[in-house]
Amino acid sequence: MSLSLIGRNVSESVTLKMNETFAILKAKGEPVIHLGGGEPKSKAPIDAITAIASHLNTGEVRYAAADGSVEMKKAVIRYTQENYGRLVEPKNIIISSGAKQAIMVALQAILDPQDEVIFPAPYWVSYPDMVKLCGAIPVPVVPENGTFTPTLQDIKQNVSSYTKAIIINSPNNPSGAIYPKSFIKDIVEFAEEKGIYLIMDDIYQKLVFDGETVPNPFDYVKDFTDNSKLVIINGVSKAYAMTGFRIGWAVGNKKLIKAMANIQGHQTSGTSILLQKAAIGGINGVQSSVASLRSTLENNRKVLVNHLKAFDGVHLIEPKGTFYSFADFSAYDKDSARLSKFLLDKVRVLTVPGVEFGMEGFLRISFCGSIKDITEGIERIKWAIDPNSPNELYIGERKLVRDWN
Ligand SMILES: Cc1ncc(COP(=O)(O)O)c(C=O)c1O
Repeated sequence: MSLSLIGRNVSESVTLKMNETFAILKAKGEPVIHLGGGEPKSKAPIDAITAIASHLNTGEVRYAAADGSVEMKKAVIRYTQENYGRLVEPKNIIISSGAKQAIMVALQAILDPQDEVIFPAPYWVSYPDMVKLCGAIPVPVVPENGTFTPTLQDIKQNVSSYTKAIIINSPNNPSGAIYPKSFIKDIVEFAEEKGIYLIMDDIYQKLVFDGETVPNPFDYVKDFTDNSKLVIINGVSKAYAMTGFRIGWAVGNKKLIKAMANIQGHQTSGTSILLQKAAIGGINGVQSSVASLRSTLENNRKVLVNHLKAFDGVHLIEPKGTFYSFADFSAYDKDSARLSKFLLDKVRVLTVPGVEFGMEGFLRISFCGSIKDITEGIERIKWAIDPNSPNELYIGERKLVRDWN
């Protein structure tokens, strides 16, 4: 069988693969705990459900405009004004099948083969492959200061004449870091001055703790006309617990959005009108579910951080947002894929290897699950890797015996 260069080189999404592994083990009755998850466990907002149900009841479910319905765009205009203080027009907006597709069509509209795209590490697992899908070259940048927060200098050192775009994701998956105002100001001004596209992946914007707020890139933009290179990505997946609805969007200059809409029109004809109705219900409806999710996650974070602190060799920078922690386990094993597999094999706990996010020696441990899973999952991990653990561990009725050091 012959496959294209892209077909051969694009790898499977590790995080989606994890979900599949979890489902298979669970179906076999294995006592598996998923600490690698990427979605909140709460229900979708009631306003989203009633909105989609009432449209479905009409029995008329037709094509929507390829770049999103008028009503959905209105909702995004309102959202953008409320959350970014910027009044944009319908032609500045495209609605896509999740934030993922919004990023993908933006890259397809921007990149030529061999162009380069910079993003700080640790980074979301999909960025490198999305860039490769365009025939372009991913350029991950590990912050030199040993933190999860890049500096403008880190970025500048990697800019070349091929650099076409920079992707910034803050709050960050997997570290939970919120990049400081000074960095956002620097990067917005730098990208504007150099004419490099700046894609702000803000999907975790509302999931922040300790009363923190996320810096607003629009505060530093001088020009948001057709020359602007700023693209804002957002959606309902995370903050509204609506991952399965697959609705995200991009806000950018009208020419770019038009090109993205042309591409999307040939790929999917746009997203389902039903799912857009649900998203409108979510973002225009009562916002208490977002606040309640945020406080659940903040509490989960506390539990996880306290448990991880009980590990002698584990180093953790406390996440300030999202529902992920990125802990340094290199004192136990420098090979994160090996460690992650060991934990799954021995104690049936799923974690995501740091190497997938561009940083070896780390594990991404999510706190979007239940307190029970977080607590028990971390206890199992500790039992498995701490040489001073007792010889036996019970998982329900099942007795595990340490036959390793
Ligand atoms: C950083 C980041 N961007 C984008 C997405 C994709 O979001 P969506 O489910 O809306 O496509 C995710 C999902 O995990 C993410 O973590």
